[in-house]
Amino acid sequence: PESELSALRDVAVTVAREAASYVRVRRVELFGPPGSGEAASVGTKSTVTDPVTAADTESEELIRRRLTELRPGDAFLGEETGADGGTATAASGVVWVVDPIDGTVNFVYGLPASAVSVAARVDGRSVAGAVVDIASGETFSAAEGLGAHLDVDGTRVPLRCNPVTDPRLALVATGFSYSPARRARQGELVAALLPRVRDIRRVGAAALDLCMVAAGRVDAHYEHGLGPWDWAAGALVAAEAGAVVRVPSGTGDDGELTVAAAPGIAADFETLLAEIGALDAIPN
Ligand code: IPD
Repeated sequence: PESELSALRDVAVTVAREAASYVRVRRVELFGPPGSGEAASVGTKSTVTDPVTAADTESEELIRRRLTELRPGDAFLGEETGADGGTATAASGVVWVVDPIDGTVNFVYGLPASAVSVAARVDGRSVAGAVVDIASGETFSAAEGLGAHLDVDGTRVPLRCNPVTDPRLALVATGFSYSPARRARQGELVAALLPRVRDIRRVGAAALDLCMVAAGRVDAHYEHGLGPWDWAAGALVAAEAGAVVRVPSGTGDDGELTVAAAPGIAADFETLLAEIGALDAIPN
């Protein structure tokens, strides 16, 4: 029911905002003011270019603890600590899928685009979620059937995709995996796409890319190999703003494609992706 969905959305907004405020301050403690040197506490994950910081782990711990307080019967799946019980199932049927910092490279460098992403999933579907821009505090949220909204400086606005109809005029956001082999193929696809659209943006945080489609700041987003934490909230925000969305069926390891496109270009954009060979998964 509607009240349950909006309650889940409110929980997502609350915890994502708390985590975003926490890491905004923590970043300065960890890395100091701009230009102050070594990024001391940067560790690496899947490859040497895939960073993780103390802020990522602390943010995930904060979100996990708050969700346990607010929604004790639910399950949890986080980018940094994985699933509880290994399976992420719960009596309530709700699984929280969390990226404690999406856009960690931007976060480490002090570039603006990084976000906290929190989604509630039921039966393998996102039903509510929030994405909070860490630097600006902009809060994108959505609940299934209840629309997508942006809250900034106390103002709440409903989100709609751009009314664009010509894919040649589309501003397209994309991103690249940390795996060198997958990246090489992603580079080829960008080269094929670039002459056929208005332009390409590599913002650096997939959750925000998806919200940008919702907010009309870009017209489409596509990326291979995203993990569920990257897209779980943003894909719902995009869909609730009218975007046509395709999400991976798996974990991201097999390099499946995620797409969100404004409705007026969605079919043509899909054809374009097919023509350049981008619909296929890109294995590692
Ligand atoms: C990454 C960002 C990036 C995307 C990568 C993701 P992370 O997430 O969303 O934009 O291109 O594929 O892994 O590692 O910063 O949480």
